[in-house]
Amino acid sequence: MEIIRVKNAEEGGKKAFEIIKDGMENGAKVLGLATGSTPITLYKEMTSSDIDFSDMTSVNLDEYVGLGGSDEQSYRHFMNVQLFDKKPFKATYVPNGKADDLGAACKEYDKTIDENPIDIQILGIGQNGHIGFNEPGAPLDGTTSVVDLTESTINANKRFFDKVEDVPTKAVSMGIGSILKGKKIVLMAYGENKADAIKGMVDGPVTTEMPASALQNHDDVVVIIDEEAASKL
Ligand code: GLP
Repeated sequence: MEIIRVKNAEEGGKKAFEIIKDGMENGAKVLGLATGSTPITLYKEMTSSDIDFSDMTSVNLDEYVGLGGSDEQSYRHFMNVQLFDKKPFKATYVPNGKADDLGAACKEYDKTIDENPIDIQILGIGQNGHIGFNEPGAPLDGTTSVVDLTESTINANKRFFDKVEDVPTKAVSMGIGSILKGKKIVLMAYGENKADAIKGMVDGPVTTEMPASALQNHDDVVVIIDEEAASKL
């Protein structure tokens, strides 16, 4: 893993954006994208740039079960507002959290991932080390599935909802195996509350208890972190 230390999220967003620009200059056509607060500075860089993304495809990591694109807390809505409304892509994929048959929707999403191999996968990390919504215990070679969110994740994400009872308890998430298929992976983390997860990811054993530790098995991972997130390394 290459570790890049930055002063803050703004500088981190700029670094990640440079990696995306380099990738696009070298033929990258598919971006794996993430939600949460962490990638917002990257999306700001992308939307304020003069780069044209209309030939690019994006494949997002996850979506809450039960929320559709018109729900303001859905990840589809987040992506539209943060990025796609301002910078149109050729095609944008986000799992369908409202599918009648979620199992079939997961299989369909795996097909989408196979048909659109991800050149650069952007990741944040949960305080418990989750990537996408792959919580501790998730198989390190998993594909897209419906997952139960842990209490810690529900609590961490309740800030986006009126009350904790409104936070969905399930999500559709790309699996860790699918994430590892990305040719290059860029994980960003800012703040002291990510320090334990970063320590486990970088220095800990590769274990299902720390989903992000699976990234140790990938040969092109860039980790962009501020001093607080790096404080336990
Ligand atoms: C969410 C998302 C992850 C994200 C993580 C961290 O649960 N499913 O993709 O990386 O939480 O979020 P934040 O960047 O807001 O700390």
